[in-house]
Amino acid sequence: MSALETDFTRDAGVEVPLICGAMYPCSNPELVAAVSEAGALGVIQPLSFAYVHGKSFAEGLKRVRDLTSKPVGFNAIVEKSVKAYEDRMRRWIDEALEADVRFFVTALGNPRWVCEAVHSAGGVVYHDVTEKKWAEKALAEGVDGLICVNRRAGGHAGALQPKELFEDMSGLGVPLVCAGGIGSEEEYVEALKMGYSACQLGTRFIATDECAVHETYRSAIVDAEEEDIVLTHRLSGVPCSVIRTPMIDRLGTEAGPVARWLLKNRKTRHWMRTLYTLKSIRGLKRSSREGLGNKDVYQAGKSVAGIHEVLPAAQIVRSFRDALTAKES
Ligand SMILES: Cc1cc2nc3c(=O)[nH]c(=O)nc-3n(C[C@H](O)[C@H](O)[C@H](O)COP(=O)(O)O)c2cc1C
Repeated sequence: MSALETDFTRDAGVEVPLICGAMYPCSNPELVAAVSEAGALGVIQPLSFAYVHGKSFAEGLKRVRDLTSKPVGFNAIVEKSVKAYEDRMRRWIDEALEADVRFFVTALGNPRWVCEAVHSAGGVVYHDVTEKKWAEKALAEGVDGLICVNRRAGGHAGALQPKELFEDMSGLGVPLVCAGGIGSEEEYVEALKMGYSACQLGTRFIATDECAVHETYRSAIVDAEEEDIVLTHRLSGVPCSVIRTPMIDRLGTEAGPVARWLLKNRKTRHWMRTLYTLKSIRGLKRSSREGLGNKDVYQAGKSVAGIHEVLPAAQIVRSFRDALTAKES
């Protein structure tokens, strides 16, 4: 069996066991399509299409489909606290299924209703997890695979190292994807050797020609070292990896005492997270698109250490694929 063939490539119908993870606000249709067209899996972030890239979800999906007929994924952040949001997510999932999307990545809430909709159309659902207890819950709700988000990840980071997560989850009997800290071909090959079925990369794909972020964001990733990445609780109420900028220094990385109390309380937690999310959605959109100088907030993970230049997305997919197959010869 070729090193390229894994449980994940069979589930997703792709050639290379590599995912360009969904990223709010960085997933634009051209980036998703370029990754899929090159043989890996680009994942649609529907909120990013609808609120950042000036397209309705339907227009964004059509743009992806005009650029590639290969498999693409869809990211459903499952948040039940706002009814209008859930209704819209259900509509978007139906539209994605109609456009032949069959690979779904769920995050945060209970993925059961997504599994029901996707399974009835013959698709698969992988769920983002940071710990075994959440993995077991998600499996009980019907997910088919797990995206293991480790402590090196960009966006919402986990607490464990990639190896610890793999050891905790490997007995669960489903494909495991490593998410976090993969910026170079060596790190990629290492994760697959460990036993992961694929890797999900975010930060590496922001520093590409196709990603429509402001030039200052791409440069910040290329210039940053691992020590420049800090965890902040101030964006969404859960730890989020960002590049240390003057804005982050000004904001601080800890939530204030009232916010901390509201985040601990079961009844108010959802509202506090929604408030944080609404605030950060605007801020992230503006600094990713406009490059605001001293107001910048750039999400990125420790994989910045292995990222030294802006490249076309297809070149990244090709060189990661070649590194994996070189191991065989
Ligand atoms: C800017 C940014 C935004 C992200 N937004 C999302 C998102 O909307 N949904 C999601 O499931 N994961 C999101 N993630 C996580 C990525 O899909 C991926 O798992 C993560 O970036 C992997 O870590 P890496 O950045 O070290 O490669 C985001 C990551 C980044 C860097």
